[in-house]
Amino acid sequence: MSVLVLGGAGYIGSHAVYQLIDQGDSVIIVDNLETGHREAVHPEALFYEGDMRDINFLRSIFEKESIDAVIHFAANSLVGESMENPLKYFDNNVYGTQVLLKVMVEHDVKIIVFSSTAATYGEPKAVPITETVPTNPTNAYGETKLTMEKLMKWTELAHGIKYVSLRYFNVAGARETAEIGEDHHPETHLIPIILQTALKQRSHITIFGEDYDTPDGTCIRDYIHVEDLINAHLLALNYLKDGGNSDVFNLGSSQGFSVKEMIGTARAITGKDIPAEIGPRRAGDPSILIASSEKAKQVLGWKPTRTSITKIMEDAWKWHSARPEGYKKEVGK
Ligand code: UFG
Repeated sequence: MSVLVLGGAGYIGSHAVYQLIDQGDSVIIVDNLETGHREAVHPEALFYEGDMRDINFLRSIFEKESIDAVIHFAANSLVGESMENPLKYFDNNVYGTQVLLKVMVEHDVKIIVFSSTAATYGEPKAVPITETVPTNPTNAYGETKLTMEKLMKWTELAHGIKYVSLRYFNVAGARETAEIGEDHHPETHLIPIILQTALKQRSHITIFGEDYDTPDGTCIRDYIHVEDLINAHLLALNYLKDGGNSDVFNLGSSQGFSVKEMIGTARAITGKDIPAEIGPRRAGDPSILIASSEKAKQVLGWKPTRTSITKIMEDAWKWHSARPEGYKKEVGK
């Protein structure tokens, strides 16, 4: 199969490209390198640097290449930034998807797997969160992802493009070989920050709040290994190719761990002390997010094999200790 991966130079997208190539698919990547990295581009993938909102650029790729299916990761994804600059998020995420769907309609490409988020649910009334829980985003990022899902819903009705939307919980870890991994600027995610502290790139980690209604007072999240997460995308592609109906699936581990538990795991795995200080709550953080991923298991046949916090932390540590400075920085970035 020939798959177009939008955002294939980013953290999650690059892991998808590596697995697609592992299983013998041919891959075309589109990435504007705003947050992606040239070094994360698989050497056997065909890479087009550019912005998907540029319809003539995108059309030229669909004209040149034979494309059977699309996986769409290209988006801005920082919750805090989305609250300060929501229009940037609507422009890049929502308008970008609108252009993509338009070009897919023009070229009769009928399959898309889409990167969505737990942030579509907002603050849950109960956990675990199933796909039937009403969506109620509490930040602009989550609202854009929900709007992108709606764009796909209506485009399917009018033009028959089938989609699977995968709502990720906390994605972490790296490819076992440490060839690719997580490298964001600025970094806001818990595990990279913990490991940067282990590497002494930071003096300490600040725990955002110790007064939540959880056993140790810190927030609980559901961490999923990026390689298991990507495996669900490959299953979703096959599901759609085999005539499956458009649908939405959660991807998580169905288990929750607190910030303090994550820091404890990192201390055990790295053997470093990792100083931690308690700070105030971060605005907009729900206290507990845990997925029910039963639907993905039942319908897609998904079987996560690497998702334990030990394995996630070990693979993330391999990447961070092999590449403490991350990818080479592009000029101007
Ligand atoms: N945390 C800290 N200190 C830090 C960084 C994070 O205590 O320096 C805490 C956060 O408060 C949170 C937990 O660690 O309780 C995880 O935080 P992350 O920023 O790693 O992840 P989030 O749960 O905030 O966000 C994730 C995804 C988002 C997505 C969101 C859905 O990264 O893209 O889940 O709610 F929108």
